[in-house]
Amino acid sequence: MDEINALRDVLAAGRRMVFFGGAGVSTESGIPDFRSASGLYRREESAYSPEEMLHHDFFMQYQPQFYEYYFNNLVHPAAQPNDAHRVLASLEAAGNLAAVVTQNVDGLHQQAGSRTVAELHGSVRRNYCMNCGAFHSLEEMLSQRPTVPVCRECGSVVKPDVVLYGETLHDETVCEAIGHIRQADVLIIGGTSLSVYPAAGLIEYFNGDTLVLINRDATTYDRAAQLIIRGKIGETLQKAWSKAYS
Ligand code: OAD
Ligand code: ZN
Repeated sequence: MDEINALRDVLAAGRRMVFFGGAGVSTESGIPDFRSASGLYRREESAYSPEEMLHHDFFMQYQPQFYEYYFNNLVHPAAQPNDAHRVLASLEAAGNLAAVVTQNVDGLHQQAGSRTVAELHGSVRRNYCMNCGAFHSLEEMLSQRPTVPVCRECGSVVKPDVVLYGETLHDETVCEAIGHIRQADVLIIGGTSLSVYPAAGLIEYFNGDTLVLINRDATTYDRAAQLIIRGKIGETLQKAWSKAYS
């Protein structure tokens, strides 16, 4: 309870806050994370590892197999935002959160109402034709399942705007994220193992005085945090937020 009160004080202090998150933010929406005991990378379902199947070269060579894995594991069209997404959106609306920086590709922050979201690894909701660049919605992609999605304009293969292994992050998104993190007084990190670079390295730009970590498992940045909460992130944020704003 003391931890929740401490988090309430941070949320209520009205300082410049930024949230940095990962897959753990969406597990309470029913989307599995990658590295937990029940995470995607612990399942053995195929001759290839998930990291191999989510690699740029695999996409280029084996599009049917890539899309089968991708649609079955990375795309969750029925998932709804949970308390973590909702509280973060409310904090932004109240003028207390400058931005969400996320490694997630599910678009749930925006669905919950967050406006300033830097999606370091892209989004399943944006898809572009590899030949003519035409935009395709997630619904257009799903409607072509189980075949490889092709462009309605030119018939070429459409690629999700998701950063695969072997691809670089979008410069503008990285710059935007660094800008937000640099200017923050308070950085709340949650639902991420902080083990994937360069994304995790961006928190090194934090120059403020209050680092809060809300994560089920330990991370390598725990020692740098002023407040560590080992709870479920949706539940934790909701409890602290309702105390701060009631
Ligand atoms: P990970 O699966 O590596 O880490 C998720 C973390 O969230 C773990 O440390 C869990 O303990 C924690 N967690 C899970 N559910 C939680 C909950 N309800 N409350 C609090 N903590 C919870 O996921 P990421 O760090 O996001 O890249 O992984 C980074 C990148 O690796 C992903 O963006 C993805 C993957 O390869 C791409 O897809 C490009
Ligand atoms: Zn096209």
